[in-house]
Amino acid sequence: MSLTLYDEVQAMREIYPEPLSAVLPALRLAQERHGGWLSEEALREVAEALELTPAYCDSIASFYDMLHTEPVGRHLVEVCTNISCALSGAQGVVEAFERELGIAIGETTADGGVTLRAVECLGGCGWATVVAVDNRHKLHVRPHDVAGIVGELAE
Ligand code: FES
Repeated sequence: MSLTLYDEVQAMREIYPEPLSAVLPALRLAQERHGGWLSEEALREVAEALELTPAYCDSIASFYDMLHTEPVGRHLVEVCTNISCALSGAQGVVEAFERELGIAIGETTADGGVTLRAVECLGGCGWATVVAVDNRHKLHVRPHDVAGIVGELAE
């Protein structure tokens, strides 16, 4: 018999001294189990398992960039637009992705292949501009690199 998300979150809850401490790993797990994003149903399931409110879970989910409260594509391209990257030309990188993918920042391609997002500091300020492609960081990205990155995603 396979475990339900509720069972898995209950097991996770045992690891932590307080249910609140389990909310982030529980939301990550729920996101995995719910196709890469946290629907109202997913938030409700986590809330029930941790005896929290769905609104509380939503407040956590909407704060962290790695948690998604809307559907995302099969691939996720996240361009850091924080200060170091902004000073190194992040806006030009964003615009190159928008042109190459035919979408605006925050959107997903019509085929559901790629979601393009702008995010806060990815922790690689010395290697700006940083772009996370499916959570793997690409460093020193310039607009002329973008077509190659998009090409890799299509392979
Ligand atoms: S500002 Fe872009 S990685 Fe820190």
